[in-house]
Amino acid sequence: MAIRNIVKDGDEILTKKCRPVTKFDRKLHVLLDDMAETMHRANGVGLAAPQVGILRRAVVIDVSPEQNDVLELVNPQIIAYSGTQEGNEGCLSFPGQWGIVKRPNYVKVRAQDRFGEEFEIEGKELLARAFCHEIDHLNGVVFKEVCERMLTRKEIEEMNV
Ligand code: CO
Repeated sequence: MAIRNIVKDGDEILTKKCRPVTKFDRKLHVLLDDMAETMHRANGVGLAAPQVGILRRAVVIDVSPEQNDVLELVNPQIIAYSGTQEGNEGCLSFPGQWGIVKRPNYVKVRAQDRFGEEFEIEGKELLARAFCHEIDHLNGVVFKEVCERMLTRKEIEEMNV
């Protein structure tokens, strides 16, 4: 496994729509392993392939405090959602920036695993937020575009992150 470079704010790759994954091969497995390691090292809860420069529909998510519960979603689609939550959201591609983003409180996703096997997974609260945020990345959408407003520097200082 290896740490990959995270694409940052202003790079146009973050605005591009990703293509589906069609080959569930070793190259994909290495990408997913590297993405998980990169996400953990950066203390993030999610990372999408375009954030490491790959325009393919793959994301990793880990909302566990111990960083030991990685979810890999290949070609994910939101198939159901309900409720709303409003909260602070950041992104590894936008270090030090936070916004208030409204998301569904419950999200159900259909995706494929690293071998191409289809599965469904549900999430609430932070996990639902992560599903939405990461799938947005695959469509070239970043949280700054969907936020109610960005937090001020003072508000970020008070968050203590
Ligand atoms: Co992000």
